[in-house]
Amino acid sequence: MIERFTRRDFIATGIAAGTALVAGPAAAGEAAEFVLNAAPARTNIVGGDYPDTMAWTYNGAVPGPLIRRKQGDRLRVRVRNRLAEPTTVHFHGVRMPNAMDGVPFVTQDPIAPKGSFLYDFTLPDAGTFWYHPHSNSSEQVARGLAGPLVVEERNPVAVDRDLVWVLDDWLLDKSAAIADSFGNPHDLSHNGRLGNTVTINGRLPGHVSVRSGERIRLRLVNVANARVFALHFDGHAPKIIALDGQPVSPHAPADGTVILAPAQRADLILDMTQPPGSRFTISDKYYRRQAYRLIDIAYGSEKPLRDAPPATPIALPANPLPEPKLAEAARHEVVLEGGAMGGMMGGRMGGMMGGGPMGMRALAGRGLFWAINGVAMPEDMRRIEPLLTLQHGRSQIITLRNETAWDHPMHLHGHSFRVFSRNGKPEMNKPWLDTVLLHPRDRVEIAFVADNAGDWMFHCHILEHQKSGMMATIRVA
Ligand code: C2O
Ligand code: CU
Repeated sequence: MIERFTRRDFIATGIAAGTALVAGPAAAGEAAEFVLNAAPARTNIVGGDYPDTMAWTYNGAVPGPLIRRKQGDRLRVRVRNRLAEPTTVHFHGVRMPNAMDGVPFVTQDPIAPKGSFLYDFTLPDAGTFWYHPHSNSSEQVARGLAGPLVVEERNPVAVDRDLVWVLDDWLLDKSAAIADSFGNPHDLSHNGRLGNTVTINGRLPGHVSVRSGERIRLRLVNVANARVFALHFDGHAPKIIALDGQPVSPHAPADGTVILAPAQRADLILDMTQPPGSRFTISDKYYRRQAYRLIDIAYGSEKPLRDAPPATPIALPANPLPEPKLAEAARHEVVLEGGAMGGMMGGRMGGMMGGGPMGMRALAGRGLFWAINGVAMPEDMRRIEPLLTLQHGRSQIITLRNETAWDHPMHLHGHSFRVFSRNGKPEMNKPWLDTVLLHPRDRVEIAFVADNAGDWMFHCHILEHQKSGMMATIRVA
C-alpha cells in the first residue's frame, strides 16, 4: 500500500476565500460563453517539498474554475477537448433538458480530441452543484477533472463569507504522480479507488483562517471517486441548510457528523463561536480505524466581529420542485447486486451485447462485477433497454434495495428526489437529493415527479462501480 502523505511532509497552506478558485465572468452578461479547456497540466497538490503532479485539468486548474451564476440565469459553457481521448461534461444535479446532460452515446456524441461542444441551459434551482466528465469517468475524474458550480439565490441568507471546499482524494505514488492502477479488479469489485491524499480545493490542507464571531456559509462538494467523508467539527456546531443543492430545514447533523458520499454536497452555516487565537480541528472519521485530521480552524487575534451569532434567519428559500403525490404514485423496485463477498449475481448483459444470460465468470472477465435488477451495463454501452420507463408528469416511488456488502451512493440524472424512508423508518427531514447513500443491506424509498422527459442515467457514483456494471438508464416518456 502506498503511504499516506501527511501534514508534516509539506508546508502548511492557509485556505482563504476562493484562493484556489477562479470566478467565472459573473455580471458580464448572463449568457456570455464560459470556456472550459480540458487539458493535461502540472499542478502542485502536496506542497513545495514534492514534485508537481501531472493532472488532467479544466483551464489548467485543479479543481476546475468555480462557475457562479444566479438562479434563473442561462449558462453557456463551451468545452474544448485538449485531452488525447474523448470526453463530455455533466453538470451534476442541475435539472436541465436531456440533450445538455453530457452522457456519451445517450445524450450526445463524445467530444473527440480537438473537438468542442456548447452546453447551454438555464439554472432552475439555486444551490451548490458541480461538473465532471461522463466519459471514462473513473480515470478522468481521478486525474483531476471536476469543478464547482454555485447557483446563488436571488435573496441569499446573510453571511460574512461564502466558502466553497471541493474535497478530493488522490492515489499518489511517492513522487506525487497519480498512480496508474485504473480499472483493477480489486477496486472495481470492492470499495472503489480509495486514495492516500485528501485535498481541499486541490491542495493538501493545513488550516483555514477565521475570525471570531463571523458567520460562514461553507459549501462542501465531494468529487472523490470513492471516498465517503464523515466530518466532525471539533468545538463547533454546524447547521445543515442544503443537501445536494436543495434547501433542507436547518438542522444539526446527526451525531454532529456531516456525511458526504461521492458526488454529494452539503451547505453548512458555521458560526465561529470560539475566542481569538484558538485552534480547532475538522476530522474525517468515516472508515473504521482510519480517522485523520482534515484541516485546522485557526482563529486570528482580531477582536470578535460580534458577541453572539447573528439572529438573522438561515433557512433558504425553496426551489421550484414539484411535490410527489404519494397516494397516486407509480411504484417500482430496484435491486443492487454483486461485488465481492456479496454472492455475485447471475446477471445478464443488456442491450447490444445481445445474447442471453451470462454467468458471473464471464461477466467478471469483461470487468463487470455489479448489476441493477440483474443487468450489468458496460460503460461503453451505446444503447440499452431502460431499467424503468416512467410516465411523464406522474409521481413515482422507487424502492432501492442494496443486496450487496458495500456502500453505494446512487445518483439519478435530470431530477431531484425526496428520500422518504430508510429501512422502514421515516427519513429525518425528508431531504431532496440527487445522490443517496445506501449502506449494505439498506432499503430506501425515494419519490419524485417524473417531469423531465428523456433517457436519464441512474448509477452508483463510486465511479469504479459505475464502470463495472452499476449503471442503467431510466426513461421518462
Ligand atoms: Cu455526477 Cu452520472 O454523474
Ligand atoms: Cu456502488
